[in-house]
Amino acid sequence: TAADKGGFKHYMLKEIYEQPAVTLAAFEGRINDGLVDESVFGEQATAIFDQVKQIQIIACGTSYHAGMIAKYWMESLAGIPCHVEVASEYRYRSVVIQEGTLFVSISQSGETADTLAALRDVQDQILASLTICNVPGSSLVRESDLNLMTKAGPEIGVASTKAFTTQLVALLLTTIVLGRRFKLTEDKEREIVLALAELPSLIERSIAMDGAIESMSQSFAEKHHSLFLGRGTLYPVAMEGALKLKEISYIHAEAYPAGELKHGPLALVDKDMPVVAVAPQNDMLDKLKANLQEVSARGGELFIFAGSTQDVQPGEGIHVLGMPSMPQILEPIVYTIPLQLLSYHVAVLKGTDVDQPRNLAKSVTVE
Ligand code: G6P
Repeated sequence: TAADKGGFKHYMLKEIYEQPAVTLAAFEGRINDGLVDESVFGEQATAIFDQVKQIQIIACGTSYHAGMIAKYWMESLAGIPCHVEVASEYRYRSVVIQEGTLFVSISQSGETADTLAALRDVQDQILASLTICNVPGSSLVRESDLNLMTKAGPEIGVASTKAFTTQLVALLLTTIVLGRRFKLTEDKEREIVLALAELPSLIERSIAMDGAIESMSQSFAEKHHSLFLGRGTLYPVAMEGALKLKEISYIHAEAYPAGELKHGPLALVDKDMPVVAVAPQNDMLDKLKANLQEVSARGGELFIFAGSTQDVQPGEGIHVLGMPSMPQILEPIVYTIPLQLLSYHVAVLKGTDVDQPRNLAKSVTVE
């Protein structure tokens, strides 16, 4: 009913707008004196974390994209070797599990058949299991040694939004508690915790761009293909943006790490293929700008979510939306918001069933 949707036209839009509140819920109460309280992971957390030598992340769909971002964090911030793989591949190949592996499953529902089966298959070969999950009492939570609930609240829209951004907050907390045992210093931890406190208002400010993104969406409604580009932690964000567009607007969308553009997809670029880029003000911006020039030179229409509108100039066929400036660690979380809104508005324009896209299920409990 309209009441359940809190006055919004769709659950998806309601859930996008809930993100300032739920990302706060995902870290609030888990910080003590500026440091993350690791007991929230479970009674055995400290004993288990002390023995971790590497991480294996397993997930599907949107949760897999959260895992990809976590891999960047685990290796760059924490200095912990981290692998990430989709559950349906991992479980069917013969894997080599190294000593001291913490198996981390990420799942909104806690019931995805492949993710659950992957955990069950490796139970006796891993150090311990941790699930990052949104549903208390779900199968993954019951069967894992440790858990960290994402606290997004019920997510009804099939296309995942708030579940993803809260997973990222939970994964950042996880990176911190593990990183303490590796290369993360207490100063750095305090810096990240301070940055997290800014997250809800930065998401709020991104949601305020809704009107501008709605106008932008008109350029997509008639298109059949699109390309999403990002580098570093923004590459999985581009993947998630492309997945959202596919899921609800049925427009073919492919994500590429921007540096791979010239190894193939550049051949596809013409005026009928919009290219979306997530381009925060980080050390990769110059490289990304060079990639984007290659797109413009071939007549491709660019839609850039940029950290600095000074460095990325709008022009003929180049649309630039300026994002608020933010701590680099928050970029993958905050840049996700405009991509969610873009897919939402394109789908509304196309008249698809936004909350229940064809052929898809909220939770895939069959293999
Ligand atoms: C389905 C849903 C996706 C979700 C994926 C994994 O494909 O439509 O939105 O990302 O399952 O689900 P999970 O509950 O394990 O995160």
